[in-house]
Amino acid sequence: MPIIEWKKQYLIGEQQIDLHHQYLFSLLNKTYDDFVNKESADRLSSTFDDLIDYAIYHFSTEEQLMERCGFPGLAEHKKEHDLFTKKVVDIQKGYHDGERGISLELLSFLQDWLSTHILLSDVEIGRYLVSRNRRKSLGSRNIDINV
Ligand SMILES: [Fe+2]
Repeated sequence: MPIIEWKKQYLIGEQQIDLHHQYLFSLLNKTYDDFVNKESADRLSSTFDDLIDYAIYHFSTEEQLMERCGFPGLAEHKKEHDLFTKKVVDIQKGYHDGERGISLELLSFLQDWLSTHILLSDVEIGRYLVSRNRRKSLGSRNIDINV
């Protein structure tokens, strides 16, 4: 059974970001599977690294999108990404140094953060893009009328 299940409610309406989120879910589920199936430390470590690396890549893509479209909540949103990144990179370092292992608690934290962040923060980007596109199409219609 997966630790996180993709549902329609997670769609924010921006295709690239939605695909990234689905891939993040699959990487988290893969890490969870490896953990539950007691796979080797090497395998668990590489799956976990893939998850963290992809999350960091995804955040930068999302931030570039917010910047490009003039999303007003960029600074606050970026702060959420940065706090999370700092936390998981510390965890990753501890894992590689042998100071801590991957636990159900950690996987639950990742699951909870990811789903909450998408449902409360990332959806705002989608909403903003919808209203921005609406404003744009209204603007171009006005131009048409004036011509
Ligand atoms: Fe985000």
